[in-house]
Amino acid sequence: MQRVVDAALRAQVAEELPEAADIRDATLRASVIEAWALALTRSSYASIRDIPPSGNPGSMTLIKGDQTDHIRGVTRLAMRMADEMAATNPGIALSRDIVIAGGLCHDVGKPWEFDPENRARWEAAPRAAGLPSIRHPAYGVHLCLTAGLPEEVAHIAGAHSGEGELLIRSLECTIVHLADIGYWTMALAGGLIRPETVGAKYRRPLTL
Ligand SMILES: [Fe+2]
Repeated sequence: MQRVVDAALRAQVAEELPEAADIRDATLRASVIEAWALALTRSSYASIRDIPPSGNPGSMTLIKGDQTDHIRGVTRLAMRMADEMAATNPGIALSRDIVIAGGLCHDVGKPWEFDPENRARWEAAPRAAGLPSIRHPAYGVHLCLTAGLPEEVAHIAGAHSGEGELLIRSLECTIVHLADIGYWTMALAGGLIRPETVGAKYRRPLTL
């Protein structure tokens, strides 16, 4: 467990999420790394690789891999959808940098929501602070803004999931949202999900 962001942790996050190197804007790239480093220091996880590869705690869990496989997979799908839309619709107002940053940060709140220490506390007294107290999209917004990311990226963290049904998603958020749903839907169809983790949650895929 680490409680302070330092150069070693930033380097570790950059190594765990290599797609960050594709972000052209240096400030945006650094803020993505900062948001994930901050997320780890505020949880009991030392690495993104220590987080189970699930959509929600205990549900839709990949048979192989870890949470970096999901984060990177969604980001890579989103990048390709963005590139194809831009190629076939030259006038479309689409920021590739925001798509990559948003893909990498859409689940930045998961270290908080998945943290075994938090879960034990919430499950022991669900009516005290809630269960969970804050879902990963909302906690992700907190982390994004604290790390200095622009509202366009915070919006993707906050609205990529079911919370986004309450507002109008940006184009970049729409792409990441579809990539996220597509990732889990294709993983399920491809036999990549542990059967015992496929439950009622999957029948409401927008909440993934
Ligand atoms: Fe996700």
